[in-house]
Amino acid sequence: MKKALILSVMVVFSLFAVSSAFGAAKCPQPRKTKAAPGGISKKDMTAKADAANGKAIYQKKAKPMACKMCHGAKGDGGGKLGKALKPAPRNFACAATMKKVSAGQMFHIIKNGSKGTGMVAHKKTLKDKEIWDVVKYIRSTWVK
Ligand code: HEC
Repeated sequence: MKKALILSVMVVFSLFAVSSAFGAAKCPQPRKTKAAPGGISKKDMTAKADAANGKAIYQKKAKPMACKMCHGAKGDGGGKLGKALKPAPRNFACAATMKKVSAGQMFHIIKNGSKGTGMVAHKKTLKDKEIWDVVKYIRSTWVK
């Protein structure tokens, strides 16, 4: 009985040590998300999108929760909730990984989610126009 208690305290402490060891997510980063189908990844409607509105959605308004909770306020994958996720949320500031991720790919995943990861679909809570706004904000702020 006592042994079990000591063991579980040790487990909790080691989990804490692991989770607090990370700030920004790794770079290059392994990527679990699948490629968007067909022509969607080549689509890009960010030219007329509104990055300021995208920022409000990313940092605050998105439902069920703000994107920053996982992807981090700085876009580096270092959000509070993100630390507990496997695979880790995308680090948008990681050029080596993001060079494979187009605007259309981002649009598709934000809309439909990424199966087998913590990335939820937003098609019920964000209009297409709003999704392009977020894509523009992320790409113009962090993707180099
Ligand atoms: C609950 C945590 C969580 C939230 C909230 C979240 N994401 Fe994600 N996101 C993830 C994870 C996990 C992945 C998958 C990483 C992987 O492919 O390995 C992901 C993947 C993505 C990708 C796909 C990139 C690629 O590699 O194709 C984009 C784009 C993205 N998220 C944008 C957003 C935006 C914009 C929001 C807010 C509207 C958001 N995410 C909210 C956890 C989250």
